[in-house]
Amino acid sequence: MICLLEFIVIILTIILIWILMILLLFRREIKAARERDPAAKSDIELILLYPGIHALIFYRFTNFLHKLKIPIIPRTISQLARFLTGIEIHPAAHIGRGLFIDHGMGVVIGETSIIGENVTLYQGVTLGGTGKERGKRHPTIGNNVVIGTGAKVLGDISIGDNSYVGANAVVIKDVPPNSTIVGVPGRITKQEGKKIDLSLDHRHVIDPITESINELKRRISDLEKK
Ligand SMILES: CC(C)(COP(=O)(O)OP(=O)(O)OC[C@H]1O[C@@H](n2cnc3c(N)ncnc32)[C@H](O)[C@@H]1OP(=O)(O)O)[C@@H](O)C(=O)NCCC(=O)NCCS
Repeated sequence: MICLLEFIVIILTIILIWILMILLLFRREIKAARERDPAAKSDIELILLYPGIHALIFYRFTNFLHKLKIPIIPRTISQLARFLTGIEIHPAAHIGRGLFIDHGMGVVIGETSIIGENVTLYQGVTLGGTGKERGKRHPTIGNNVVIGTGAKVLGDISIGDNSYVGANAVVIKDVPPNSTIVGVPGRITKQEGKKIDLSLDHRHVIDPITESINELKRRISDLEKK
């Protein structure tokens, strides 16, 4: 009986030390989550229940192993982390402090991605390659950037500081600082807080395939007339 009691005390002590360590080592990330998610009620809730925090704990560890040039093990742990959290972060990615991944499911952060400080990513965000590049092939995200749910930021491009990427946007070109970018392909709609593209029709987001078909139809009809 005493043995069981001792065992429980030891386990509880280990859990307490673990929670205190996470509170200390991930204070910027926990603070960011508290500030940016109105649903977050306490630090303990964040540590126990937020997959974005769990994914970052795994990432810091795998990144450490990657820097020691240990093969296979960092990727194996990051795949396990993906299984547990739904968030895939390559161990070689560079991630600044204060990243908040809200909800998390479906987030992918590629190998050569660079993420600045105080960035927010919602579920389904991909920081990926275009499939055509080698070497640095993933985006560089500035400080204080927010990337909306389902957005894809593809290729070795830069998203400037303090920018917003709208939900479901597909960004394939550099974005200057203090911009808002929406749609497919991504278009800048606001810069320095001012609207800059009045012609953008957000209710009919431009689809490049539809545009190409329309262009072909126009040419066929021109040829028929001739
Ligand atoms: C883009 C976003 C940041 C809004 O930025 P904003 O600077 O406040 O922009 P506005 O709301 O003034 O919208 C600007 C224009 O873009 C349009 N727009 C906004 N978000 C858009 C989106 N995701 N896709 C396409 N168009 C969008 C608006 O309809 C508006 O069009 P209008 O000028 O014709 O009226 C925001 O709409 C967004 O997508 N946030 C992501 C939030 C998110 O992912 N939440 C997940 C929670 S779980």
